[in-house]
Amino acid sequence: MTDVNSWLRRLYIRALTIRVMRNKSRFVARRVRKYSIQSSSAPDSVLVELARETEALGPAAGMLVPHAQGTLLTTLVASARPTRAIEVGTFTGYSSLCIARGLSDSGQLLCLDISERWTSIAEKYWARAGVGHRIELRLGPAAETISALPAEPTFDFAFIDADKVSYQEYLDLLLPRMRLDGLLVVDNVLLHGKAARGRARGAEPAAMRRFNARLAADHRLQTVMLPFADGLTLARVCAH
Ligand SMILES: C[S@@+](CC[C@H](N)C(=O)[O-])C[C@H]1O[C@@H](n2cnc3c(N)ncnc32)[C@H](O)[C@@H]1O
Repeated sequence: MTDVNSWLRRLYIRALTIRVMRNKSRFVARRVRKYSIQSSSAPDSVLVELARETEALGPAAGMLVPHAQGTLLTTLVASARPTRAIEVGTFTGYSSLCIARGLSDSGQLLCLDISERWTSIAEKYWARAGVGHRIELRLGPAAETISALPAEPTFDFAFIDADKVSYQEYLDLLLPRMRLDGLLVVDNVLLHGKAARGRARGAEPAAMRRFNARLAADHRLQTVMLPFADGLTLARVCAH
């Protein structure tokens, strides 16, 4: 019976991760997406429960980062061991939990969001994962919250994943508050592939194209865009 349960659990996790990844990475061949998920670590039970509760929210669940992206965030953070991290756009807490897990015990993550309802789910899972003491949540429009932050102490790591049309504003506000060699990670930069189309229609794809072009040309940053998940840009801060 235990074997059957663990087999069913593995099957469920596989189906969940493949579904989330499929929705995000339509620009990658299905077979390759499936294979890359199968070749990555599986989520633990806290992340599976969090994803399941988020799925029950309906279409909003599409905002969740795919599992493999969460793993990437944990590995990036754990290898750099930042002291201060910031996340712009927290939702139900999947990515923040993954970031917080990579921090050292004295590391702190500041989470920004406007939704009390969604972040109340996040707080529950932070506590369950034993990382609640590393995270501070501030509710309100993220641009206002960042503007009110002092220039010092600086952040070592930032993850941008809130409303897409404000990405440039978030970057402009965050950059002076980042330490040199700090890492900015920006999500959804491909917008399901729409951002890569020359004549992208709609406010979001157009804003994302402008943002991506400015980021690549910004001499203060060393930037690489990964065609992974919904497109992920890593930018190292080289100058202010
Ligand atoms: C894509 S979701 C974040 C997903 C999250 N990083 C995760 O992995 O689960 C975007 C979040 O940004 C928040 N948001 C949207 N506009 C915002 C704003 N102006 N200020 C702060 N948060 C905002 C939304 O409430 C939502 O929770």
